[in-house]
Amino acid sequence: MPHRFSTRTNWNTAESAYAKTIREARLAGKTLYDLTASNPTICGLAYDRDAILSPLLQPEALAYEPDARGLLRARVAVAAYYAEHGAPVTADVLQLTTSTSEAYSYLFRLLCNPGDEVLVAQPGYPLFEFLADLEDVRLRPFPLFYDHGWCMDFESLEQAVTPRTRALMVVHPNNPTGHFTTAQERLRLEQICQRHGLALIVDEVFLDYSLEEILPACSFVSGEHPVLTFVLSGMSKIAALPQMKVGWIASAGPEDQLHEALARLEVVADTFLSLNAPVQHALPHWLEHREGIQRQIRQRTRANLLFLDQSLSGRSQVSRLQAQAGWSVVLRVPALDADERAVLRLAVEQGVVCHPGSFYGFPRQGWLVLSLLTPEAEFQTGVKRLIRHFDTE
Ligand SMILES: Cc1ncc(COP(=O)(O)O)c(C=O)c1O
Repeated sequence: MPHRFSTRTNWNTAESAYAKTIREARLAGKTLYDLTASNPTICGLAYDRDAILSPLLQPEALAYEPDARGLLRARVAVAAYYAEHGAPVTADVLQLTTSTSEAYSYLFRLLCNPGDEVLVAQPGYPLFEFLADLEDVRLRPFPLFYDHGWCMDFESLEQAVTPRTRALMVVHPNNPTGHFTTAQERLRLEQICQRHGLALIVDEVFLDYSLEEILPACSFVSGEHPVLTFVLSGMSKIAALPQMKVGWIASAGPEDQLHEALARLEVVADTFLSLNAPVQHALPHWLEHREGIQRQIRQRTRANLLFLDQSLSGRSQVSRLQAQAGWSVVLRVPALDADERAVLRLAVEQGVVCHPGSFYGFPRQGWLVLSLLTPEAEFQTGVKRLIRHFDTE
């Protein structure tokens, strides 16, 4: 039988042993402690139903007024979000998308020909692999290393540049390692981009979720932009509304390049006009009300982190890595088993569900990634069981 599908979709779509175990355990009614929760809408947070749903009913949404960049009033609201972060930006440099994921796909189409390469830090967000595959772009990972905190290996980064490299991607703060890019690192990244003619793509979806009281968060939208820079974010984390499908790209850079990039991006977006009117009219209201849900999430993630720290005595086989921001935390555990086998045993023996480090591209074994979004009671039981499991092994 002839091969009917593109090689770019040659994924292994079979259910993994781990996914099968979890699915069967759920079906059998076994109690599980899910330390991978990432969907905020089912984590017991109190959403303001009226403030979210009533803005979708505005009469203006009855009219079709296509604007490839997104409706002006929606872009003005996004600009106000950056102004509140001390990063003034005009609505003209904003491009709305139906998600951050769509924003990546627009940027890959804008910047890359098939087979071109994009640099990305590892460990990092696993979806990049798929987003790149679908646009025929190749990811070139460069390592982060941990030394009393996460650092970028700039030497390896620069060695990973080839004549086909078109962009450098940074997640700020990174998922799942939870570290911010420092001002000094930003400078070095920009210098590398300048030297090699690369664009800088910065994903800031977790910018507002510091795990510490004193927030060092500073958006890449602020300051000077010596290279073409695209900052991505959206409602799925900022307002914990992933189901509403709104994201954006804030572009910056030297005037002539910026002008050309914006014009081309607008044509990409005009080809799809993918955002619907009700969400664009609702966006200013959701942004205005974001603080209520953000406060709950920060309380949740910080309380869970505090509980984890209190549970990890100096004698435990388990330790946690520093994390400054985001919705997850990385644990170092005894590297007795391959990560996938370790999480499988944890699920079968303790009912604890968590991600293996390999899922995020951690090197070798001995890493687990926990979500800090899990409801507190479930998190606490899950963590106690996890620690007992490794300490008695
Ligand atoms: C780093 C990062 N970027 C983007 C996203 C997804 O955002 P969206 O729902 O807007 O596609 C996620 C979701 O977890 C993420 O972790």
